[in-house]
Amino acid sequence: MSRRRQIYEGKAKILYEGPEPGTLIQYFKDDATAFNAQKKGIISGKGVLNNRISEHVFQLLGTMGIPTHFIRRLNMREQLIRQVEIVPIEVVVRNVVAGSLAKRLGIEEGMPLPRTIIEYYYKNDELGDPMVTEEHVAAFGWASQDELHDMQDLAIRINDFLSGLFAGVGIKLVDFKLEFGRLWEGDYSRIILADEISPDGCRLWDMSTGEKLDKDRFRRDMGGEVEAYQEVARRLGLLPDGV
Ligand code: C5P
Repeated sequence: MSRRRQIYEGKAKILYEGPEPGTLIQYFKDDATAFNAQKKGIISGKGVLNNRISEHVFQLLGTMGIPTHFIRRLNMREQLIRQVEIVPIEVVVRNVVAGSLAKRLGIEEGMPLPRTIIEYYYKNDELGDPMVTEEHVAAFGWASQDELHDMQDLAIRINDFLSGLFAGVGIKLVDFKLEFGRLWEGDYSRIILADEISPDGCRLWDMSTGEKLDKDRFRRDMGGEVEAYQEVARRLGLLPDGV
């Protein structure tokens, strides 16, 4: 690992140069951060679980015709991915009021939304990822109109599929964050799903008990983070029953 060239280190992942041009290796760390990295910690074993969960979800999305950066999992903590130019926008999809939406509008967490809401956040650590509108995205050229349209379309399709996938194992998909990238082919690029989909970037509530099975356990000092992530993996059929 140490001999490979590191391309980028984020809060929860490291990207290394891949074996072939146009590929990267995505390494999942155990580091956890919240509130724009003001809160930091280690969730031992998280990287292994997120690598496995994200592999599973990206593979399923691929079979549904969603283009993604995922190529294959390499080992417990690494996956081979396509190199993309990350669009500097976090796309958040919400089905139920929670988190920053509940806080900002003073609405109690747990209210189902009458329709799915898509929000955009400008990826900028110094500014704390401020929420922006489509107008800002277009005006500042963070994505073209076509790219924005593709991201919206993909986000809705991903939400439909994932809501069903999780509902099938007794989990409510409350909200989640997506990142997209430009895959360049000569002078032409197209939008594909990048980053990861795991309990780090989703709110997942047990449908019968309401128990939180996601990173809110860390954000809110609830404890039991690894057990919650394991429960998600187990329900998705990724861990033997006894683990
Ligand atoms: O905090 P907020 O309610 O805006 O988060 C909405 C969803 O997006 C949550 O599932 C959260 O885990 C995810 N998110 C993320 N990374 C961020 C901000 C939000 O994964 N930087």
